[in-house]
Amino acid sequence: MDREAPAHPASVDGSAAHEEAAAAAERPTTGTPTDEPSTPAPQAVDHGRRALSTWLWRLPVLAAAGGAAYGVWQAYAIHFAKDAPAPNPVFDPVTDAEVAPLSAFSEVWDGVDFMAAGVPCVAVRVPAPVPGGLDVGVAVQLVAFSRVCTHLSCIVELNRDVEAVAFAFNHRSDRPSLTCACHFSVFDPLRAGRAVSGPAVRPLPRARLRLQGDLGGDPRIVCDGLERTS
Ligand code: FES
Repeated sequence: MDREAPAHPASVDGSAAHEEAAAAAERPTTGTPTDEPSTPAPQAVDHGRRALSTWLWRLPVLAAAGGAAYGVWQAYAIHFAKDAPAPNPVFDPVTDAEVAPLSAFSEVWDGVDFMAAGVPCVAVRVPAPVPGGLDVGVAVQLVAFSRVCTHLSCIVELNRDVEAVAFAFNHRSDRPSLTCACHFSVFDPLRAGRAVSGPAVRPLPRARLRLQGDLGGDPRIVCDGLERTS
């Protein structure tokens, strides 16, 4: 019996159909659109907006980092970045200003406020010589300072309460200090008025003292000069 001939050669071997389909897939698509469904075009990426939003998110982090860095700098400046007083101060002469009789300094850390050339000052008896101070010669050492704070010009006070200085000014010392209540700067009389805590950086200018009269009586202490600061 004769076998029936296939209707199409490809139907005999399916590989021909597969080859045709593969060729069609590889063939570049040219020409006009037909009734194939159109693919939606991808939306354009707005790189400018994306970069802006990225930076906006970074701003709080940068602000926090900047604040922390400023805090570290302030902590360093408050305690360490201070100018040293001149070891040999230069004084501009002023008209003699009465300070007090020597007997007003009978104890170490006695202090007397006075005015010299319109500048409020304080003279202090200290336990050891201080550059720019007055060695009276009977185991009495005096030194005097302008009371005008070198931060923003408030008036400093001789503060003998070391516990109060430690508590209120955050500066612990074993001796009295010159303190400014405006922004809590502290100056050390024994270190020639150096700023040791708070926002002030420069030391207090010194005032020159002179003994007038005989040690046998009760000589006067006068001020005749103010430290040049520039
Ligand atoms: S004015 Fe003295 S600490 Fe600011």
